[in-house]
Formats: sequence, C-alpha cells, structure tokens
Amino acid sequence: MTAQGRRDTQQDAPRRKDDVKREQRSGVPVRRPGVQSGYDLWASSYDTTANPTVYLDRLHTLRALDAQPGEKVLDAGCGTGAHVVALRRQGVASVGVDFSRGMLGVAKQVDASVPLLVGDLHRPLPFADAVFDAVVCSLVSEHLEQLHVFFAEARRVLVSGGRFVFTAFHPELVGAGVEANFTRDAVEYRLGAEPHGVDDFMREMQLAGFGGIQVENVVGDEALVEALPAAKKYLGKSCLVLLTAKAP
Ligand SMILES: C[S@@+](CC[C@H](N)C(=O)[O-])C[C@H]1O[C@@H](n2cnc3c(N)ncnc32)[C@H](O)[C@@H]1O
Repeated sequence: MTAQGRRDTQQDAPRRKDDVKREQRSGVPVRRPGVQSGYDLWASSYDTTANPTVYLDRLHTLRALDAQPGEKVLDAGCGTGAHVVALRRQGVASVGVDFSRGMLGVAKQVDASVPLLVGDLHRPLPFADAVFDAVVCSLVSEHLEQLHVFFAEARRVLVSGGRFVFTAFHPELVGAGVEANFTRDAVEYRLGAEPHGVDDFMREMQLAGFGGIQVENVVGDEALVEALPAAKKYLGKSCLVLLTAKAP
C-alpha cells in the first residue's frame, strides 16, 4: 500500500466495535481522524497532555543517545520538538522531520532556529547517505506500518558506527488495547497502534543491517505515579521499550 493510500484508509477509518463500547461506557464519543490529521489536531495540547510513556521517554532517551556537541543528529518523528530542541541547546546540530505540520508548527514556536522538515517516515528521507552521527526516533513506532522502510532509511543516513536510538510505546500496552489518544471538547480522539512486538523491532533492525542491538524495558514505578498520579494503573507494568543499535 502506498503512503497516500495508507493515510486515506486511516482518515476514513470506520467506527470499531470497541469504540462503540467505550462510548457506551463513558458517554464520550470516539473519533479516528487518522495519524497525520490526528497529530495536527493534537499539536496545540500535546505538550500539556499527561502521558506516562512521554514522561518516561524524557527520562531515558537523551541519556541513551549521549549526543556530543557538534554531532549531527536526526530526530525522526520529532513532533513538537522536545528532543530536537533540547539537543540544539546542548550544541548538537540536530534536525527534525515529521509529517504533521501542526506538530512542527509548535516546535517552530518553541525554537525557530531548529531546522525542521516535513517528511514521511514510510518514504525515503530527504537526506543524503551517511550524514548523521545518530538518529533518534521516540514514540513513533506505533504508527509505523512499515518498520523495514524506516529502519533501512535510518541506517542509510547514518555514518558507519552511527547510533540509532528507538523508543516505543510498549507492545504490552498495545496488546492490552491502549493506543495514542487525547480528549478535546468532550471527544476522545484515537490514533491507532500497530501491533509490533519487541522481537519485530529487533528482527527488522537486524535485517536493515544494524548491529549491537540492546533492549531496555522501562516499567512504571513510584516516581512515575508521583509525577503523574493518573498513571497509577501503570505501576509495575512495562510502559516503554528503548532499543539502541549501531550502523555497520
Ligand atoms: C507520539 S508523537 C512523538 C513525537 C516526539 N518524537 C516525542 O517524543 O514527543 C508521534 C509523532 O510521530 C509522527 N509520525 C507518525 N507517523 C509518521 C510518519 N509516517 N512520518 C513522519 N512522522 C510521523 C506524528 O506526526 C507525531 O508527531
């Protein structure tokens, strides 16, 4: 399926049985606007939405990336720019790419000096081969139908020995029916979640040529619940998986 076809399918997503049940339980209507339009809608409130996986991602991802001043780093699916902006402020030559103009617009408001490009991670990235020292991709995995396309591109744009840091909304949460979602004006917007497992991430990274793959499982703990009391239901549960790998 082409990227355009995929988006059209998502935007016209029919109401699902579980949406109807959820509406009946909570009385809140559920809408499925598709991923790109969904993030455009979410953009203005994304950074203030209490979200346990985002909270945990911020604790672990840049530590794992360990970017040094002067390095060139791509933030793939950069959204409102949390990582790409933080990296720039550390003297890293970071660049962000995302297909939601709404999310990129918020990132631009946070720091107009950060280079941001509109691009689809299911298509060839708009960069030459071997130009980045590291690629970071946070919390986009549940929207990637074609992991192999993105992983091959991440490897292509990395220098030899370049680092890849990939964090994912944990597959166990996806398996339990949790998906990217937000509420606006008494409507719940649900943006879907691809059912990839940790094994799928590892296999597709290996097939793309990455080596030295390491996996870190991040579990909800007391500190998470203290920061976000609504996350109590995630105590002791796998919330985030963080993979690191090296380009050959
Ligand atoms: C949950 S947000 C994460 C944003 C950011 N990385 C962060 O950690 O806050 C997912 C982001 O992935 C982007 N995204 C999803 N699928 C994409 C695709 N195929 N190409 C480019 N961006 C995509 C969305 O627009 C959104 O900004």
